[in-house]
Amino acid sequence: MEILKVENINKTFDDLHVLKGVSFCMNKGEVVAIIGSSGGGKTTLLRCLTFLEKADCGSITIDGDNIVADVEGKSVYPNDEELRKRALKVGLVFQDFNLFPHKSVLQNCTLAPTSVLKLDKAQAEENARRVLEQVGLSDKVDAYPYQLSGGQKQRVAIARALCMNPSLLCFDEPTSALDPELTAEVLKVIKDLKDHGVTMLIVTHEIDFAREVADTAIFLDNGVILEQGNAKELIDNPKNERTKEFLKKIAE
Ligand SMILES: Nc1ncnc2c1ncn2[C@@H]1O[C@H](COP(=O)(O)OP(=O)(O)O)[C@@H](O)[C@H]1O
Ligand SMILES: [Mg+2]
Repeated sequence: MEILKVENINKTFDDLHVLKGVSFCMNKGEVVAIIGSSGGGKTTLLRCLTFLEKADCGSITIDGDNIVADVEGKSVYPNDEELRKRALKVGLVFQDFNLFPHKSVLQNCTLAPTSVLKLDKAQAEENARRVLEQVGLSDKVDAYPYQLSGGQKQRVAIARALCMNPSLLCFDEPTSALDPELTAEVLKVIKDLKDHGVTMLIVTHEIDFAREVADTAIFLDNGVILEQGNAKELIDNPKNERTKEFLKKIAE
């Protein structure tokens, strides 16, 4: 079943053309890694897919819902209230966690489910405890963000996103702010989510991780998908010269 269909997304900031006709699809349970040099438009693409940024042209369909339509070469969005509601189908885990500093781990995970999804508190807490257990943080439910390591904070951020039960979970370089030891614990959680069937789109520089965990890899270069396909094949045996160059450079 198709969870995401992106067609011909273009995005310009003033006169900087950042995304130049990006199209791809994802199926339920699929894990896609987006790789590519800094400045290539990876974050902008994730921000368009999570509706933090509006595309200029192109369409976005999530879980069968054509949220952004392309009408005569222009992206057409629903009104803000409608967009906010339909955008809940996609979750985003940020590079730098973005936890609420004055709320406990449990509160970080129940705030949006109670205020946005209108779950009652007991149910939101039950869900949150289950998800926190899944990411290995059962013993931290009452802790505050300042009491956690970077890896633990990122796992709370992942749990918080999962508590909204998204159809698609996006990650923007989830380990780039972490030391190598802490990186491993976060990558392990993401791998475990894959085993539980969570559909994930992950921007990452962790090429070994992408090779191991992703089904599909996409090489985004200068706003264009230059190569996409089976993650192992693409990473072990890239066809495009620029993909080869990029992979060689980051292996150094
Ligand atoms: N809000 C913005 N306003 C202007 N330029 C932006 C904005 N966001 C990103 N850019 C520019 O778009 C390009 C792509 O950035 P980004 O999507 O962050 O790339 P990546 O995540 O691949 O490093 C960069 O040149 C960046 O400076
Ligand atoms: Mg980025």
